Amino acid sequence: MILTVEPAVSQLQGEITPPGDKSISHRALIFSSLAAGRSELSGLLESEDTLATLRACEQLGAVVERGPDRVFVTGTGGSFTPPSNGILDMGNSGTAMRLLAGVLSGQNFDSTLLGDDSLNSRPMRRIVVPLKQMGAAITASEAGTAPLVIHACHGLQAIDYLSPVASAQIKSCVLLAGLFASGTTRVNEPHLSRDHTERMLPIFGVNLPSPCSVEGGSKLKACRFAVPADISSAVFSLAAAAMMPGSAVLLRQVGLNPTRTGFLRCLEAMGADFSIINQSSQSTEPVGDIRLQFKDGLKGIDVPESLVPDMIDELPLLMALAVTASGVTRIRGAAELRVKESDRIAVMAAGLRKLGVELQEYPDGIDIQGGKVSGGHVQSAGDHRCAMSFAVLGLIAADRILIDDAEFIATSYPTFTADMTRLGVNMKISENL
Ligand code: S3P
Repeated sequence: MILTVEPAVSQLQGEITPPGDKSISHRALIFSSLAAGRSELSGLLESEDTLATLRACEQLGAVVERGPDRVFVTGTGGSFTPPSNGILDMGNSGTAMRLLAGVLSGQNFDSTLLGDDSLNSRPMRRIVVPLKQMGAAITASEAGTAPLVIHACHGLQAIDYLSPVASAQIKSCVLLAGLFASGTTRVNEPHLSRDHTERMLPIFGVNLPSPCSVEGGSKLKACRFAVPADISSAVFSLAAAAMMPGSAVLLRQVGLNPTRTGFLRCLEAMGADFSIINQSSQSTEPVGDIRLQFKDGLKGIDVPESLVPDMIDELPLLMALAVTASGVTRIRGAAELRVKESDRIAVMAAGLRKLGVELQEYPDGIDIQGGKVSGGHVQSAGDHRCAMSFAVLGLIAADRILIDDAEFIATSYPTFTADMTRLGVNMKISENL
């Protein structure tokens, strides 16, 4: 499907509560499915990605009841039951596949994890290697990709794992396998990646012996869990308001975990005018309302490499925002972007070039020269975050922008166009022209 964005005629005004955090929603579903008892989850994101996890949890024996504003999950008490045909389809979701691979490596039945074309081409050796070190019988394709075939477990051993990449999916996969291993499993990483797993396990009754470790045999207990709004979705309206003269938006109850707020730190450095109010905490996560009003004169920045893991999912949007800033914005140390739902450096560079933006692509980043944006037809390559980033840029383009593969927006933010429309923007998704 094609998303059509007309240049905005008015500013963005109003308030929204963005949908629930995707990373936290996946974890809430998996943890409550492993737990003994009935958990109550509020604020859960119900998007294509998290629904893939939800369906997999049901196939593995959890009972899920979806109410209007709450989801109840009756867990299995720790041992999943084999899925009827042995196959679990994770759709587009890397988080679902990598986290469930950790859990399934500790189960006493065979299973196969696969996904759509994008997910089936993403690197899985990064989890297969540590899982094999723990004694898991898991194989990937020759190319190191899904399908992942996992054989019944005959005992896992704990490991001390030094991850070569700062990746919460690798970390969480190993920690979840560690729940089924003998001994204490620890993970170290080059930079702290999002730490939702470590924050959430204690709420589900698992005490961590040290910050990033689990004791084999720990059991999860049902709980009440509230998912905050996703900062990775909130940023689209923030960026749109930061670009559109006269805008003022308020985003409510957004998760502000410091491992996720790199984009806000960049916004600040670029000169955007925003404040955080009503700070509190929700279950395990800091939350707050973000109020932003347009201020003229955003300037390009050198994004500190140390911030990259804290804004890894927001970098395509930062590339779009950089076009509206004066001077050059430089991003480096972001080679991981090439193995996300798409090669996000290549996809953003190709789309931005089509819209007349001057840029220079590097193996691990990009330089973007601020300037004018023309209209045009761009490919999002089935990548939800690239599609939404182009959509935001469409607001200030000289002419209408058409974005391919817009249906993938529903993997993380099914209400994206509705929220944008509510804030006064003209966007519509239509069948292919
Ligand atoms: C996620 C971790 C990140 C992020 C992804 C969600 C998670 O991936 O890009 O969207 O929920 O753990 P990596 O762990 O590969 O960096």
